[in-house]
Amino acid sequence: MRILVTGGAGFLGSSLVESLVEQEHEVIVLDNCWRGKKEHLHLVDNRIVFIEQDACDADSYRMIENPDSIDLVYHLAAINGTKWFHEEPRMVMDVNLNSTLRSLEFAEECNCRYVFASSPEAFGESERMPLGNDAPSLFPASHLHQRHAYGASKYLGELAVQHAVRQGLDARIVRPFNGYGPRLLGDEYGQVVSMMMESALLRNEIIVHGDGSQTRSLTFIDDLVTGLEAAGSIEGLAGLSFNLGSEDELSMLELAERISALVEQETGRSTIVRFEPGHPGDSKRRLPDLTLTKKHLNWRAMTSLEDGLLQTLRSML
Ligand SMILES: NC(=O)c1ccc[n+]([C@@H]2O[C@H](COP(=O)([O-])OP(=O)(O)OC[C@H]3O[C@@H](n4cnc5c(N)ncnc54)[C@H](O)[C@@H]3O)[C@@H](O)[C@H]2O)c1
Repeated sequence: MRILVTGGAGFLGSSLVESLVEQEHEVIVLDNCWRGKKEHLHLVDNRIVFIEQDACDADSYRMIENPDSIDLVYHLAAINGTKWFHEEPRMVMDVNLNSTLRSLEFAEECNCRYVFASSPEAFGESERMPLGNDAPSLFPASHLHQRHAYGASKYLGELAVQHAVRQGLDARIVRPFNGYGPRLLGDEYGQVVSMMMESALLRNEIIVHGDGSQTRSLTFIDDLVTGLEAAGSIEGLAGLSFNLGSEDELSMLELAERISALVEQETGRSTIVRFEPGHPGDSKRRLPDLTLTKKHLNWRAMTSLEDGLLQTLRSML
């Protein structure tokens, strides 16, 4: 197949691209390297076409040769990372919405399949767990904080995708739940697992937000790639949305303790856990309902937390 991956130099995208190339697909990456890195693709860089352009700009898609022969678009380009949601909400909305609209239009022009990387944050602060496809999205008053610039942009992206489906596009939605693994950004704009690991390695401390009782369903990168591939390759899934997340809930305090023990095991160094106020709007739980995912994709997360954390930590040493 000929496959376009927007955001293909990022954490999820680069692992997906590597796997697609291994399966002999022809892959085109559209990424402006805002957060992704070309080096992420060094193992396959001579086997892909890399277009370093903005996925919000319709002209970027004109650089793709023979667009009519594209079979599948994975749309992963987005501004991700909680700190950005608070600091640059308009940039988050601009990029996440416009890149989704432009990539959808491109898929419609090519009449090809489309997979949209949404997020459980599209449900906002919904407390109904596990999060199933029919759960309503719940967003608080806008003057309270800016966090939901991200979740709301994903919600609107899902609406756009569903509209395209009604217009005849074969589009599907996936929602990764707290992905982690090698290449996940660990600086202050990063995501929780790598942030805790980087902070333990560089500063011998791990910061836990709030009291650490909030839980997440951490999902290893290899499992997410398998889910993305299934969502893109199986016939007859137009209009369906798939949660891709582990069913094992882990509190953030437990995560900090697991990482602290792992760092000690691998480096002999000890780490202290420090508590700080969290980000407003951070949900208490985020647990996926996998009913549709199991039924249609035959998918569930297979990697144990122990193995996934060890692989991630070793990639950072
Ligand atoms: N990682 C997760 O756990 C997770 C969870 C839920 C949803 N998602 C979604 O999955 C997708 C991939 O996430 P990720 O963790 O790999 O994030 P990431 O930040 O590592 O990857 C996003 C990529 O998009 C690129 N990008 C940003 N703006 C762009 C633009 N205007 N034009 C072209 N490229 C642009 C970045 O450079 C980066 O390579 C995102 O849409 C994200 O919202 C990820």
